[in-house]
Amino acid sequence: MSAVLKMGGADRAPPRHFLEIMDHDPATLRRMLELGVQAKRGAVAGRPLAGKTVALIFEKPSTRTRVSFEVGIRQLGGDAIVLSSRDMQLGRGETPADTARVLSRYVDAIMLRTDNVAKIRELAEHATVPVINGLTDVSHPCQIMADVMTFEEHRGAIAGQVVAWTGDGNNVAQSFIQAAARFGFILRIATPPELAPPVTLIEWARTQGARIELTSDPVAAVKDARCVVTDTWVSMSDEKPDAGAINRHNLLAPYQLNQALLKRAAPDAIVMHCLPAHRGEEITDEVMDGPHSVVFDEAENRLHAQKGVLLWALGGAG
Ligand code: CP
Ligand code: NVA
Repeated sequence: MSAVLKMGGADRAPPRHFLEIMDHDPATLRRMLELGVQAKRGAVAGRPLAGKTVALIFEKPSTRTRVSFEVGIRQLGGDAIVLSSRDMQLGRGETPADTARVLSRYVDAIMLRTDNVAKIRELAEHATVPVINGLTDVSHPCQIMADVMTFEEHRGAIAGQVVAWTGDGNNVAQSFIQAAARFGFILRIATPPELAPPVTLIEWARTQGARIELTSDPVAAVKDARCVVTDTWVSMSDEKPDAGAINRHNLLAPYQLNQALLKRAAPDAIVMHCLPAHRGEEITDEVMDGPHSVVFDEAENRLHAQKGVLLWALGGAG
């Protein structure tokens, strides 16, 4: 995009942010997924992101998000700049608002992985280019887009199917709750009561018609489920010095996704995990490497699903 165009902006359409699954209606989310599936099939013509640059900002470590975004943007003909907030003024106090105002003059979209959802909201409020959520302490929407894509590749339409979550009611679980409302699957969540997802989010999802069942019993959650999902017992945001008051390993041990628990699911259940996995903790080797596991398809689909998000946000696709 030319510098002249960058200096204007007042008359431009509002940017297409992708901050939370809940921000979008089912048709828009479906459009993003369709675009991702087309990209995966090689059916996206030309270089739709040619001449566009995306800033990828990380406040926390990443393997999948970093590499899948960078590779995906390049494959669509665009450029990516990977930035660590530690090397930016953002890391020493420049506000997300000012960072947004400045970066909007240079780049065509911004992806942020942050410890604090308030930062990405502030960034989006002040950016004139699309802002994409690459994980916060309370959400991971790109992951869940890939997860829905993966379920549907393996088992067909997700609407009406039972998905079971066992473990911590963390950021990934919270995006699953949003997705249950938008994609129409039944979500059963088993967590220790201390680590249950926020009541306000569950209430929101139910007002949207979501079918969400909460329990502290992983066996009850998993019974006959077509998909069983878990995630780490200690998320990156739990590594803050003030986050260690409860012993997560003791609380979460009964929620391990092992062969005995998986046997309670539907015979053709698939197993998902956003990765990185802590083998022997939230998931056993036997399950992770077993015939029900689709975790590496799921990791691959980050690439394709995010292409769908990028094409929707930047590519002029409807
Ligand atoms: N699942 C996921 O977001 O992985 P990374 O932390 O490696 O990006
Ligand atoms: N819940 C994990 C997901 C990592 C991709 C975390 O936030 O660390």
